[in-house]
Amino acid sequence: MTDVSHTADDLGVLSTLFRSEQGGHEQVVLCQDRESGLKAVIAIHSTALGPALGGTRFHAYASEDNPEEAAVRDALNLARGMSYKNALAGLDHGGGKAVIIGDPAAVADGGLKSEQLLLAYGRFVASLGGRYVTACDVGTYVADMDVVARENPWTTGRSPEGGGAGDSSVLTAFGVFQGMRASAAHLWGGPTLKGRTVGVAGVGKVGHHLVDHLVEDGAHVVITDVRPEGVDRVLARHPQVKAVVDVEELIRAGLDVYAPCALGGALNDDTVPALTAKVVCGAANNQLAHPGVEKDLADRGVLYAPDYVVNAGGVIQVADELHGFDFDRAKAKAAKIYDTTLAIFERAQADGVPPAVAADRLAEQRIARARTAGTSDAPR
Ligand SMILES: NC(=O)c1ccc[n+]([C@@H]2O[C@H](COP(=O)([O-])OP(=O)(O)OC[C@H]3O[C@@H](n4cnc5c(N)ncnc54)[C@H](O)[C@@H]3O)[C@@H](O)[C@H]2O)c1
Repeated sequence: MTDVSHTADDLGVLSTLFRSEQGGHEQVVLCQDRESGLKAVIAIHSTALGPALGGTRFHAYASEDNPEEAAVRDALNLARGMSYKNALAGLDHGGGKAVIIGDPAAVADGGLKSEQLLLAYGRFVASLGGRYVTACDVGTYVADMDVVARENPWTTGRSPEGGGAGDSSVLTAFGVFQGMRASAAHLWGGPTLKGRTVGVAGVGKVGHHLVDHLVEDGAHVVITDVRPEGVDRVLARHPQVKAVVDVEELIRAGLDVYAPCALGGALNDDTVPALTAKVVCGAANNQLAHPGVEKDLADRGVLYAPDYVVNAGGVIQVADELHGFDFDRAKAKAAKIYDTTLAIFERAQADGVPPAVAADRLAEQRIARARTAGTSDAPR
């Protein structure tokens, strides 16, 4: 998050866990199944609001000196981030995250992923008795979650055939659009992008749905993507959309709103000074490349809608799966991202801090209130 005095990279994982402001996790579980090659970390940051919810990342950490330590550190950071995200999404869930260490390709393709490994992982999730609810993340897919779910009832992100909700990008895009409408209302006095120029960087699963909302709302849309087929798909649906060659050209293209919908780190020391947009609101995770960027944006008069707030449609969707998925119920909850984003801007103004800091404060308040009231229904 934004207001910590240590970065986790400065510290060993045990110091991070027990002594730093990025620690304080309730539980960290190291899991091993030698037969399948499973090595995994399940980090539960908080169950103050309810069972910890967050996806399973499958990653090799191959470039790190100590891949296992890097994996634990990643799990700690990601789990903490989920506490904040779930709190502001209005979910009765705390934050957790799991990491499986290894190449996520299938065994047949030279990787580690196998049915045996996913089932072994599912048994570790089961062993927590519902304190941790899992879902997809980078390197894991709906089909994987269908396998993990065979071992426990606390797996979401499953296929519709497997009792789940499937692809979460529809509601993620819807939520980002709500955040953008709130940004427009705050800055320009009305909750619409009509007549505004919006640049979307990355028109993959989320980005292309976002373009649909924007076109329908009457925005002028400019897009870019490194995959020509992604660009072609959007232009075939919306010939009026303009495509530019790369992100560098996009952010200089006289935008009102910039929507990073590709990779993290989109807002950095190179891009922030070049922004033409007055609003940044997009789906990508971890848009702020380093602490301090949120202040640079505020100093330049750019309104930043915090990424983890506006891209919460996906986690709202998977949380709904636990109750038997109902698209309309999940959509109604994702629509509240509009109010939450507005509340963050108001808090930021009142406290004289950037919206990213205000978002963290609001999340911390909700978690602290639940801790005091002891309202969590997480299994203990
Ligand atoms: N899918 C979800 O429900 C969801 C939920 C929350 C957050 N997110 C985040 O939103 C972002 C997009 O997710 P997605 O599911 O649409 O992923 P995706 O892989 O389907 O789409 C990303 C797109 O960005 C493009 N891209 C990559 N590098 C680029 C670059 N340098 N310039 C331009 N385009 C580039 C890719 O070609 C791809 O089309 C990710 O950061 C993801 O973590 C997604």
